Amino acid sequence: MTETFRETATYPMARGRCPFDPPPELGHLQENEPVSRVKLWDGSTPWLVTRYADLRAVLADPRVSADSRNAGYPHISAGLAARRQRAKSFINVDDPEHGAQRRLLTADFMVRKVEALRPKIQRIVDDLIDELLAGPKPVDLVQAFALPVPSLVICELLGVPYADHELFQRISKTLISRETPPDESVAALEELLAYLGDLVERKSSEPGDDLLSRLAVEQFRTGAMTREQIAAMGQLLLVAGHETTANMIALGTVALLENPGQLAELRETDDPRVIANAVEELLRYLTITHSGRRRVALADFELGGQLIRKGDGIIAAGEIANRDAEAFPGDPNTLDIHRKARHHVAFGYGVHQCLGQPLARVELQVVYSTLYRRIPTLALAEPVDRLDFKHDMLVYGVHRLPVTW
Ligand code: HEM
Repeated sequence: MTETFRETATYPMARGRCPFDPPPELGHLQENEPVSRVKLWDGSTPWLVTRYADLRAVLADPRVSADSRNAGYPHISAGLAARRQRAKSFINVDDPEHGAQRRLLTADFMVRKVEALRPKIQRIVDDLIDELLAGPKPVDLVQAFALPVPSLVICELLGVPYADHELFQRISKTLISRETPPDESVAALEELLAYLGDLVERKSSEPGDDLLSRLAVEQFRTGAMTREQIAAMGQLLLVAGHETTANMIALGTVALLENPGQLAELRETDDPRVIANAVEELLRYLTITHSGRRRVALADFELGGQLIRKGDGIIAAGEIANRDAEAFPGDPNTLDIHRKARHHVAFGYGVHQCLGQPLARVELQVVYSTLYRRIPTLALAEPVDRLDFKHDMLVYGVHRLPVTW
């Protein structure tokens, strides 16, 4: 890469023709300048880390902080920068505070606990498919299926009434748009925190059998945590718990419909290991969290031949690290549901690695093993190049997915 490219490269970059592939410039950087400066929306120039091994090294390094209050932290947008001053959830604080909060939730998301939810998730998926088949077509699969599945599941787990889904889905959409102005972003967050705070207080006097009730009784009533802190935790779980999985359902469906051979194999298999592996490969191939893991250096250190200095911003770009041929031999730019892909970094890496990954895995396994079997003729109702891909959002996907059968 030339000096000029290095000076002018802005992040995020535009994707090329294939909607599933990361921007071509990221591939060039990975090959030629794996740790390089990029320019952000505010003119700052953090480091961009594009190779798999470097990404894992930096995300596991205790000299690197996820605390967005640190000077030099590379904010994704003006909206996020404003919001992060307002309320902190543990995704953006360091240990020991991060670990103390995360530990309050680890039992809820353990594989065994989440596996016990599988029959309930299967029922949710089957009921929504029944409704889909009984309704008109074409239909928007995002609204009719991809969003309701994880929303119903996370509501059940947290104890948030699903009747309020329009409120939290609308707010989530505002929160994860890169283009939301700071005042709107903060106002949306305030609205969700106020809603969840009221819920925590109600649950403190009338607890149910759910996660927020447990926190209300064990943490709020005892004074160990404030209403605000529990609301911030609930907000993280509610938003992270439905937006991501919903996008994987919709975008995964587009990717499979565009790869009919792979879709046929997935539809015809009874082997849960093949289904589980297909989920990992789709997570790797699509890497919907395409805005990079944002960090800041707490000390000077070397990475990929570059000297990172204390206070430098760092962006670990999982979307391209997951296409690194060193980690995923063969052609990492193709979808291959039999590829060994479980070591992907679509859930991040290190102490902040996704807490909800066992739940996301079960949801996606149930969806991918049910939807295409029950609707074997499922097809796009519009050509793929007419679909509205989420270039403007923190989490990639499609805004709408018109399908028929
Ligand atoms: C396919 C679905 C999902 C994807 C791709 C995904 C991706 C990620 C990624 C990349 C991170 C790391 C953030 C960082 O290092 O800065 C993360 C963290 C997190 N995710 Fe997920 N996620 C998904 C589903 C879920 C679900 C269902 C939940 C459940 C509530 C969840 C809750 C969280 C939480 C709480 C964190 C913060 C963990 C920490 O900071 O210790 N995610 N997720």
